[in-house]
Amino acid sequence: MKNPLAPEWLRTPTDLNLLPERIWPASVKRDGTGEMQIGGVGVGELASKYGTPLYVIDEDEFRNRLNLLNRAFSAPARDLGISVRMYYAAKALLTTEIARWVHQEGYSIDVASGGELAVALAAGFEGAKIGMHGNNKSLSEISRAVSNGVNSIVIDSELEIERIASIAESNSVVQGVRLRVNSGVHASTHDFLATAREDQKFGVPIEQVESLVETIRSHSSLKFLGLHSHIGSQIFVVDGFIEAARRLLELHAKLSAKGEIPELNLGGGFGIAYVENDRPLNIKELAERIISNVASISAELGIEPPNLCFEPGRIIAGPSGVTLYNVGTLKDVEVTVDGKTAIRRYVSVDGGMSDNLRSSLYGAEYSASLASRATAAEPVLARVVGKHCESGDIVVNNTYLPSDLAINELIAVPATGAYCYSLASNYNYLGRPPIASVRGGESRLLVRGETEQDMLARDEGYRTELIDES
Ligand SMILES: Cc1ncc(COP(=O)(O)O)c(C=O)c1O
Repeated sequence: MKNPLAPEWLRTPTDLNLLPERIWPASVKRDGTGEMQIGGVGVGELASKYGTPLYVIDEDEFRNRLNLLNRAFSAPARDLGISVRMYYAAKALLTTEIARWVHQEGYSIDVASGGELAVALAAGFEGAKIGMHGNNKSLSEISRAVSNGVNSIVIDSELEIERIASIAESNSVVQGVRLRVNSGVHASTHDFLATAREDQKFGVPIEQVESLVETIRSHSSLKFLGLHSHIGSQIFVVDGFIEAARRLLELHAKLSAKGEIPELNLGGGFGIAYVENDRPLNIKELAERIISNVASISAELGIEPPNLCFEPGRIIAGPSGVTLYNVGTLKDVEVTVDGKTAIRRYVSVDGGMSDNLRSSLYGAEYSASLASRATAAEPVLARVVGKHCESGDIVVNNTYLPSDLAINELIAVPATGAYCYSLASNYNYLGRPPIASVRGGESRLLVRGETEQDMLARDEGYRTELIDES
């Protein structure tokens, strides 16, 4: 019988050993002993080599996703005679090595701060393949972007036009810029909302675009590359992208009459499956529908379809990552709902909201599986929680785990490659976990785990002579 505490969408599994392709990297499987392998490496080996919690990134999955997405957009664009520039949205997951994979696969990179810019440059990205975002870029961030030849800076407010123009002028360069438009379209997972203007901090209102582009064009130190829109994240419906494209193309058509505009940037936001019943759009279909609509709307407006840019992050990094945790404590909590009493098993692991904030921040759902071994035990409704001093410190809100799950066993949480490491914190002075990549039966460390010494080293009151080393 279904546990009454389980949400309606959560299916009681018939076999807890299954690892559905929808939410796990393609390389994930169980070996002959039932232990989970990622990229051909056993989870036991990974945990003993790098410790837990551990972010594991499947390099082939990450690279394949970059290529899949690129092909999905490039093929219909080529048929239309336009080009597509793909920026990987670094905010999803960024290390120098990951930036190198992105570069090797022919992508540009979108950075949203001086720090992300520093990582991209340290990885060897040339400025010509970097785009910079941000609603409050500092003068120093703008200067660094300009002096490193960043291909495009996305202007987010009127104020930034003068700032960027004067920095470009003092560097004697012509800086490529885009203008981010608050299109009034906001898409969430299952639907989208279109208003005159969305109530949020990014971009400039549609009705100001023409005069702002005129101002941009009046600066000889700026080159206007086109309009930009990003309508949200974890989107499952294509209609929001199409509505935003229509609104931006109408402006693009008016602005094109006064000067050439090389590109139109439609941002990122493509959704992924976090749990089995999530049904994101097939990326090939999504790309074809966006591009065919860009073509037909352009034809209606009597303009040539523009070259397009996209900025996917989550869809590349998310499904490439799995987080491994060690189980520390198990506790059954009796809960009464609608007069019925049921048990929820709380599984406490050695990380929590400091390595995956998404569950507590957005109420995001994940799933978890016993990774150390196979099991024939019954499923029990479980909540995977962390070790922080917050009752909302939840890693996986609703999942089924085997009734014989024991302490010191490993559990794995899939789809944790995006916005987990990048949103990690030191809450309760837990060091941020290491990241290891796996490929072809080998693993390597991408970022080492943060130590207590790392954290104390920033504390000006820390005096080593007070520490008893014995
Ligand atoms: C401007 C911009 N581009 C791209 C992205 C990437 O979105 P996603 O990771 O959902 O693809 C974001 C995410 O917030 C964004 O703000």
